[in-house]
Order: sequence, then C-alpha cells, then structure tokens
Amino acid sequence: MFIAKVSIVLSLFLEIKRIEGFPNITKDYGLDIYQFLRKYNYSTETHWVQTEDNYILRMQRITRRNGTFSENQNKPAVLLMHGLLCSAMDFVNMGPNKSLGLILADSGFDVWLGNNRGTTWSRQHTTLDPDTDAKFWDFSYETCGYYDLPAKIDYILQKTGQQKIFYVGHSQGTTQFFAMAALRPEYNEKIVLMTALAPVVYTNHISSLLFRTFAKHLSIFELLSYVFNIHELLPHSQLVADVSMKLCSDGSRFQEMCAILLFEISGYDSPQLDRSFLPVITSNTPAGISIKMLVHFFQGINSGQFRRYDYGALNIAHYKSLEPPEFDISAITAPVAVYYAENDYLTAAQDVERFSDELPNLVKKRLIENKKFTHLDFLWAKDVNKIVNADVLEHMKQYVNQSNKANSGVNEKFIPILIILFIHIIGYF
Ligand SMILES: *[C@@H]1O[C@H](CO)[C@@H](O)[C@H](O)[C@H]1NC(C)=O
Ligand SMILES: *[C@@H]1O[C@H](CO)[C@@H](O)[C@H](O)[C@H]1NC(C)=O
Ligand SMILES: *[C@@H]1O[C@H](CO)[C@@H](O)[C@H](O)[C@H]1NC(C)=O
Ligand SMILES: *[C@@H]1O[C@H](CO)[C@@H](O)[C@H](O)[C@H]1NC(C)=O
Ligand SMILES: *[C@@H]1O[C@H](CO)[C@@H](O)[C@H](O)[C@H]1NC(C)=O
Repeated sequence: MFIAKVSIVLSLFLEIKRIEGFPNITKDYGLDIYQFLRKYNYSTETHWVQTEDNYILRMQRITRRNGTFSENQNKPAVLLMHGLLCSAMDFVNMGPNKSLGLILADSGFDVWLGNNRGTTWSRQHTTLDPDTDAKFWDFSYETCGYYDLPAKIDYILQKTGQQKIFYVGHSQGTTQFFAMAALRPEYNEKIVLMTALAPVVYTNHISSLLFRTFAKHLSIFELLSYVFNIHELLPHSQLVADVSMKLCSDGSRFQEMCAILLFEISGYDSPQLDRSFLPVITSNTPAGISIKMLVHFFQGINSGQFRRYDYGALNIAHYKSLEPPEFDISAITAPVAVYYAENDYLTAAQDVERFSDELPNLVKKRLIENKKFTHLDFLWAKDVNKIVNADVLEHMKQYVNQSNKANSGVNEKFIPILIILFIHIIGYF
C-alpha cells in the first residue's frame, strides 16, 4: 500500500518534470478572469457588494467585445450565478461564441457575473478572516440565497435603474435562487426570467456514486469540522492550478485521467469534451466550497426533500421543530425556464420533473435531446452553443421588453384601446 502510494507520487512528479513549460495548444490556460477577458477584448468592471451579514462579494460586469460601459447602461441586465466549486470564470472560459456569459454580452445584455461567498473572488468579510475564522464558513446554499443574491440583485437594480433583471443559474446557482425565492418571495418581483441550467433542487435520484457515498457518511464531514477544524474544501491555489494544468494538458500521460475525473463527477460524454480545454478549466476551478454547503446537499440526497439545513438535535432551537422546514416551492412565482439532461450525474431528470410540476410559474422545460449530455456540458461541451446557449438566448430575448418597463403601469399596447374606450364612453353622454 505504502509502495503504491510512493510510486504514484513519484510518477506524478516525473510527469510534471517531463512536461517542460506548456505545450502551445491554446493560450487560454493560466489566466485569471480579468486577464482572460482582456485577451478577448471584453472590458471588465469590478463591483463590490456588502451583504446584511457583512460578507463582501465581488461581481464582474462585462461589456460586449470592444464595447464600453456607457453603452451597457440601457441594456437588459442579467446576473449569472455559477455552481458548486465554480466561479464567475466558468461562465466565460470557453471564449466568445461559446460561453454563455460572452454570448449574452455580445447579444446586447448587460452581463453581471456573481461570485458566491467563499469562492476565489469573494473571500472578504468586514470582520471575519476566511483563513482563520471558522465562523466565516458557517454557510450553505440557503445562506447564499438569503443574503448574497438579494444583495447582488438590489445592487444591480440600483446601478442600472431597471425594474427587473434576468437571472441565469447553473447547478447550485439555481438551488440558491430557489431558496431565495422561497424565503424572500418579494424578490420574485425583481426577476424578469430565471433560466435554470441543470437545476439542483430535489436530489434523491442523483446518480453520482461519489455524492451518494459521501451522503451515506456525513460523519466524515463532522469529523473534519469538529476534530480537524477544517471548514473549507478545494480552495483555489496557484500551486494546485499549476500542477493540474500540466497534468491535464495535451502531451501529458495523465490527461485522460483528468477527463475521467470530470466524467465521474458530472457524467460520461467523451465526444463533447475537448481534452485540450482541460487545463483552461483547471486553471481556475475548483474555486472553493464550505463543508456546510456540501453537507446541506448531501442531506437533500438522504431526505428526498428540498428543505432548510438540518441541525439535528438543534433544529428545535433554529426552527422550533424537530425536522427542518421545507422551502415553499409555491412561493417561487418568478417565471422559470428549465434545461436539464438525461446523462447528468448530479441532476436526475426525474427530480427535475418532480420540481417542475410543483413550480407555479414554469414557462419552459427542455430536456436536452442529446442523450449523453451531462451536468458540466452545460458549461463546457464542444457544441454548447448549438445545443443549449443559442436557445437560452432566443428565449431570453422574448422577455427583453419586460426588463425596463416592468412597473410602468399601463402596457403601451393598450393605450389605443383605452383611448377608443374613452371616446365611446364620452359618446354616451
Ligand atoms: C509551439 O510553438 C512554437 C513556436 O511558436 C512551434 O515551433 C512549435 O512547433 C509549437 N509546438 C507545438 C506542439 O505546437
Ligand atoms: C482586440 O483588440 C485589439 C486592438 O483593439 C486587436 O488588435 C485584437 O485583434 C482584438 N482581439 C480580438 C480577439 O478581437
Ligand atoms: C474588436 O476590435 C478589433 C480591432 O479594432 C477588431 O480586429 C475586432 O474584429 C473587433 N471585434 C469585434 C467582435 O468587433
Ligand atoms: C461569432 O459569431 C459571430 C456572429 O454569429 C460571427 O460573426 C463571428 O465570426 C463568430 N466568431 C468566432 C470566433 O467564431
Ligand atoms: C421590444 O419592443 C420594441 C419596441 O417597443 C420592438 O421593436 C421589439 O421588436 C420588441 N422585441 C420583442 C422581442 O418583442
């Protein structure tokens, strides 16, 4: 056993030594989001938002290619929220005409990329230090829904002077939205359209062996937290990024293992994964996660419910009930468009259908026709534009007219009708 471990470490080390520099397949790896966007001529603004519980979050706002922020002002605003272990980077890193963030920017949207608390770009708090204070990590997707999203949405509305914004979430970016919409229903009014890519709500049919196994052994995580004082997993680290970029790049004997790791998490779809793209993914992902966030997901796998964090014996203190309360899906009144796939290890089609049936304002439900499409294909499939993004864009465009004039009272279409009606009424006297 020991010898096996030593030889694995040794062969990894030799492989890293063997690959001198990076083979020049693509020059997109090793860049952070600012460098990446600059390379493709998208201007970036950084916006800081403080939540009610004093986390300081960063959003990146981008223009169209070669565009300026002054022209962004009257465009419909859209907030994009990434999934578990990802960051804003994952909505842009396939580049123009592929990644949804850039497609939306080039198609006339004012694009805001969110970053959840605890991920690479949002590791700030007015008093807590993520590296030393366990309390910083005391949050799950419920907390991100309750605090982070309202702070971001209100900030964007105030900054753009619009009445409503669009929202696009992938994976956990959908979970926290639905938690928000259920816990703070007044925010439904601020959403033109919520586009849910691979939504994660009910999770009891999840097929990921990895997730199912962890869910059965939740005590591992209690051990990490209480005994080893570990509250964060897989943060972004330059060293890890450098090593994984090398090991996953073209010419590396370990490249296929990187691909398999990704498939194990998300589902096997070999034809849609460009192996050369792997180092671009690993240069910024994973971007960190709190253990409590993971545990909340695992609890959902075990309970089969979409409900608040389970504190066990302390539920009484938190909720005045033995079981954690369920999120009220009937309160989610924002229009929701759902995209899901059959071969998605983290989002079972059956679970999405159960949830969609309960949603009061479902406006679109599309099961991706490609039978092999997976959870991460929604971000990184070779043909993601053709298969998903083009449709997402077309559907969003149908709602564009609602973002600015939302609360203006009378719909302009009805004005001629009102005038005619008025003349008719006058005619009676
Ligand atoms: C990398 O680029 C150099 C010069 O830019 C070129 O000579 C070399 O063939 C390239 N290597 C590969 C693997 O494409
Ligand atoms: C970005 O802009 C520069 C200068 O304006 C130009 O030379 C370059 O071709 C542009 N790159 C892309 C990818 O459009
Ligand atoms: C951006 O500007 C550069 C240089 O002016 C030009 O080459 C490029 O085609 C432009 N890209 C777009 C998408 O307009
Ligand atoms: C991106 O799409 C636009 C419009 O469809 C097209 O003009 C442009 O050539 C495409 N760019 C790339 C790099 O494929
Ligand atoms: C939005 O409204 C404008 C003018 O009011 C109209 O020209 C445009 O076609 C509308 N767009 C959609 C998608 O309905």
